[in-house]
Amino acid sequence: MPLSRLSVTAVRNLHPVTLLPSPRINLISGPNGSGKTSLLEAIHILGLARSFRSTRLQPVIQYQQDSCTVFGEVSQVAGGVSKIGISRNRQADYEIRINGQNARGTSELADVLPLQLINPDSFRLLEGAPKQRRQYLDWGVFHVEHRFLPAWQRLQKSLKQRNSLLRRGRIERSLLAPWEAELVASGEQIDAFRQEYLQQLKPVFESVLGELADIDGLTLSYFRGWDRERGLAEVLDSQFDRDLALGHTQAGPQRADLRLRVNGMNAAEVLSRGQQKLVVCAMKIAQGRLLSLMERQRDCVFLVDDLPSELDRHHRQALCRLLESLDCQVFISCVDADSLSECWQADTPLSMFHVEHGHIVQTE
Ligand SMILES: Nc1ncnc2c1ncn2[C@@H]1O[C@H](COP(=O)(O)OP(=O)(O)OP(=O)(O)O)[C@@H](O)[C@H]1O
Ligand SMILES: [Mg+2]
Repeated sequence: MPLSRLSVTAVRNLHPVTLLPSPRINLISGPNGSGKTSLLEAIHILGLARSFRSTRLQPVIQYQQDSCTVFGEVSQVAGGVSKIGISRNRQADYEIRINGQNARGTSELADVLPLQLINPDSFRLLEGAPKQRRQYLDWGVFHVEHRFLPAWQRLQKSLKQRNSLLRRGRIERSLLAPWEAELVASGEQIDAFRQEYLQQLKPVFESVLGELADIDGLTLSYFRGWDRERGLAEVLDSQFDRDLALGHTQAGPQRADLRLRVNGMNAAEVLSRGQQKLVVCAMKIAQGRLLSLMERQRDCVFLVDDLPSELDRHHRQALCRLLESLDCQVFISCVDADSLSECWQADTPLSMFHVEHGHIVQTE
């Protein structure tokens, strides 16, 4: 599902531009501060309605402009295109349009344009809080299991209600019962979806990592957020007094995590920076590959910001080869296009874009 057309207006320093990207590899080069990351950010906003650089969209809007807009045409598996657009003004009003209609939520965008981002912050997936790894995991589950989103919404609602009752203190246990029932039902469903997905992801991840790097003894395991031996209802019951004292729910899928270990030790504490980047790339590429395998031809778009950083020549090459082998659309930024010139097979459809002071020009 590649982007066949992309228009960007008033995003950071970028001059208004319309691009016709290659359905495969797109290389974006240019000096520091020219606007390469801003272009990837624009695509990210189109797929997720948020930036990867700041929690708010306000800083993304070009100085002296009132709003920014990104518009794209996404080729669909069944033929035809989906037209998606998003604009955001300084008053924080959003408009998301999909095929001429206002979209109800950002999950609709994500459905039309599944994105995977790899950037210099991605190592946080290993060393950051569990929330990052849950988001990673749930990206995959969301795209392959359509029952995940409603279950996740039910979980959020019941958790919020239970926590707000807990914070009131000295409450009747019966008041919690309906919310707990909902929490248990949706929580166990989410756990089952996550487990099933991981079972399929693990062998793909191992094979991708093997193609990319030589890291012995790396294991990926899943913690579901509560005791493996007991049901969630029983755990909520046994931890009730503690939950009441703390004012929130301790156990459940909201506490799930993925654990990456090397010979039993936390991967983030033993791997080098470059190795961490390779592991994160393998995790994300594995998700993309699995999506293409599971949902016929539902390919995601990869955004790889500053691909060469932290990687030696051999590993750059291995990463490019892998990205090429995916058959997905990829946008790669780098300061100097020559640093990747030897990485591509002669017959790979490659488009090159050069950015200077916010001007994007297609050079090949
Ligand atoms: N809201 C904004 N309006 C206009 N310009 C902005 C805005 N926010 C940031 N900039 C500028 O946009 C420019 C482009 O930044 P960007 O991060 O895209 O560069 P880059 O090409 O990725 O550089 P690097 O190689 O250093 O990563 C920077 O000079 C930055 O100061
Ligand atoms: Mg950059």
